Amino acid sequence: MDCLRLAGYKVISFDKISSTQSYAHDMIAQGTASDHMVIVAAAQYAGRGRYRRKWVSHHGNLYASFIFNSPERDPRLSYAVAVAIAETIISYGVNPQIKWPNDILVNHAKISGVLIEYVGRFVIIGIGINVHTNPTVPEYKTTRLDEYANVDVTDVMSRLVKNLDKFIKADFDIVRKRWMALAAGLNKLVKYRGEMVELIGVNDNGALVVRRGPEYLLVHGDEIMM
Ligand code: BTN
Repeated sequence: MDCLRLAGYKVISFDKISSTQSYAHDMIAQGTASDHMVIVAAAQYAGRGRYRRKWVSHHGNLYASFIFNSPERDPRLSYAVAVAIAETIISYGVNPQIKWPNDILVNHAKISGVLIEYVGRFVIIGIGINVHTNPTVPEYKTTRLDEYANVDVTDVMSRLVKNLDKFIKADFDIVRKRWMALAAGLNKLVKYRGEMVELIGVNDNGALVVRRGPEYLLVHGDEIMM
């Protein structure tokens, strides 16, 4: 384990651990976590994704879990994180799309995923970005950044940290507009509770707005399938 400071963060880094996300949970449980910490690993042997899926984590990609103070849940956070990752990818001249709420796709294949978990007075933002390898998974197509640009993981991390700081602090109106400009499936039909509805956008509080016939509905959580 190595410990250093980078751009206002206390960085704890490993060559390989089970999961940066699980390590962040352990630190919170042990009372050793604090605001602006980030756990990074070059590889994980038990990486975790959303919906209790595995996140296959070979060497060559970015695996990081950021810890921030967060006394309350904030649904707007996940949009800021998605925009920060998308802007990081755009900075290499690549055109990503955001699939609600915060999967990042390039050419319809997943390049990055985000796992946001609230624990006590903290939030853990787990980010995986495929840089030099992309796993084959049954659920969706995957890709990696070095298929499109000359990149290295350290440089991706430093751009990501800058963008996270920028968009987490930004006015939500700016984040929301950027998210909508990059969103896949906007004004298209998506599945919500077994019915097809039109994806309209995001409101001021971070709820997704969908249209079912003449009615507009607000959707919170993970209920939309694209
Ligand atoms: C998803 O299912 O799309 C979310 C994937 C999140 C993966 C990241 S990699 C760093 C952190 N550690 C984990 O075990 N998971 C998250």
